Amino acid sequence: AGAKPLAGRKAIVTSGPTHEPIDPVRYIANRSSGKQGHAIAAALARLGADVTLVCGPVAIPDPAGVQLVRVERAAEMRDAVVAALPADVAVMVAAVADWRVASAAGNKIKKRPGEAPPPLQLAENPDILKTIGHHASRPKLVIGFAAETENVAENGRAKLERKGADYIVANDVSPATGIMGGDRNRVKLIARDGIEEWPEMGKDDVADKLAALIAAKLLS
Ligand code: C5P
Repeated sequence: AGAKPLAGRKAIVTSGPTHEPIDPVRYIANRSSGKQGHAIAAALARLGADVTLVCGPVAIPDPAGVQLVRVERAAEMRDAVVAALPADVAVMVAAVADWRVASAAGNKIKKRPGEAPPPLQLAENPDILKTIGHHASRPKLVIGFAAETENVAENGRAKLERKGADYIVANDVSPATGIMGGDRNRVKLIARDGIEEWPEMGKDDVADKLAALIAAKLLS
C-alpha cells in the first residue's frame, strides 16, 4: 500500500530490444533484457500511474498493473508510443535498433552452394525518443536512457538537447560491468542544470528512485 501520488497520471514506457527482420525467420537484435524498463513501468504503476508499457521481444515476466503493448520492430514501437499519447510522462528505456534491413525479404533467403553471402542493405530507424521530445503533444516530462562509456556528462547533455528530453539516465554498459542483462545498475542522472551520480543499486531500486523523482516533478 502507500501513497498514490501519480493517480490519474498517464505514463508511457518503452522496454526491451527491437527485432528487425532480415527475412521471415531471421532478424537483427541486441542484448537488452527489458529488466530496467519493466521495473520502471512497475514502479510508476505502484505510485498509481496509468502505465502503457510498449515492449519489444523479452523473456521476462510481464510487470503487474500495466497495459502491455507488444511490438517487434522499431517502426511498430514508434507507432504504438505515438498512439498512446497524450501522457504526462514518457520514459524511453528500450534499446531500439538504430538500423533495420532496408527491404526485408518476403521469403526465407536461400543459401545456395557456391554463391556469395547476400549483402545486407541497412536503413536508419525512427528515433522514438526524439519524436516524442519534439511532438506537438509532448508529455510534460520526457526521459531517455543512454548507454555511455565515456564523456558521460558531455554526451548526455548533447543527447538531452538533440532529443528534446528533460533527463537522460546514463549507464555504462561495457561487458565488464555486467549491467546489460544483469540485475544491478549504476547510473548518472543528467539534467539541464547538472549531473547526479547514483550509487550502484538493484534495477528495481533505480526504478523506484526514478519514479519518485517523476512524481516530485509532476506534482511541483
Ligand atoms: O541515441 P541513443 O540510442 O544513444 O539514445 C538512447 C535513448 O534514445 C534511449 O532512451 C532510447 O530508448 C532512445 N531511442 C529511441 N529510438 C531510437 C534510438 C534510441 O527511442 N531509434
